[in-house]
Amino acid sequence: MSITLKERNQTLKEFFDRKTVGYDDVHNAFLDSKKALTAALPDGVSSVLDLGAGTGMELISLFERFPDIAVTAADISEEMLSVLKKRPFADHVSFVIGDFFETDFGGNYDAMISTSALHHFSPEEKLVLYRKVYDALKPGGLFVSSDKMAPTPTQQEENFRMLAEDPHRFPHMDTPLTVAAECTVLEAVGFHIIEVTATSNQDYYLIKAQV
Ligand SMILES: C[S@@+](CC[C@H](N)C(=O)[O-])C[C@H]1O[C@@H](n2cnc3c(N)ncnc32)[C@H](O)[C@@H]1O
Repeated sequence: MSITLKERNQTLKEFFDRKTVGYDDVHNAFLDSKKALTAALPDGVSSVLDLGAGTGMELISLFERFPDIAVTAADISEEMLSVLKKRPFADHVSFVIGDFFETDFGGNYDAMISTSALHHFSPEEKLVLYRKVYDALKPGGLFVSSDKMAPTPTQQEENFRMLAEDPHRFPHMDTPLTVAAECTVLEAVGFHIIEVTATSNQDYYLIKAQV
């Protein structure tokens, strides 16, 4: 039996709503790929939307570098966001709570960032999502993603095949795209790829794309 995108996203919400205790301790191992987002942004950035902000770990370095930045945190898990809301910079953050595919991101952002939040979507689903991202950025705006990527096209296809075979593996099985497949989707919606860098976290790559 297949499972719809909406059902998968609801499953993700329930999964992350139960994950807050100890989340930051586990994700400390991925701090490098989170900090890489801040390092990839140019001086002068003043408005950023974080797709899948969760507990806001990547925002710590962002606010260290840009103390006056306005951040919009988009996430489906109110429990994950409740941790973010206790951080010292929370007053500078506004929230878009709900499924990426259903919420209104607003617009005119200098940049949109995302880490560890986008490795559960197919190329077709990402085409829809990245079009939304593109439309919410100002001309010349940046989308910077630091996320898990599949090492080969064969592995990418194998993961999707395994998930189709047993949808109950979701969300414990990741279905990342390869770097090349990610870039193809981004370019299909109009982005120009300006940087692809490996992070020190295995299989995590930073992709910087511009409107
Ligand atoms: C692994 S956590 C990453 C959190 C944070 N970016 C970090 O790196 O620590 C993934 C986050 O993405 C959110 N997320 C996943 N799918 C989503 C969707 N379809 N719509 C909105 N948020 C989603 C989850 O609720 C979760 O908070």
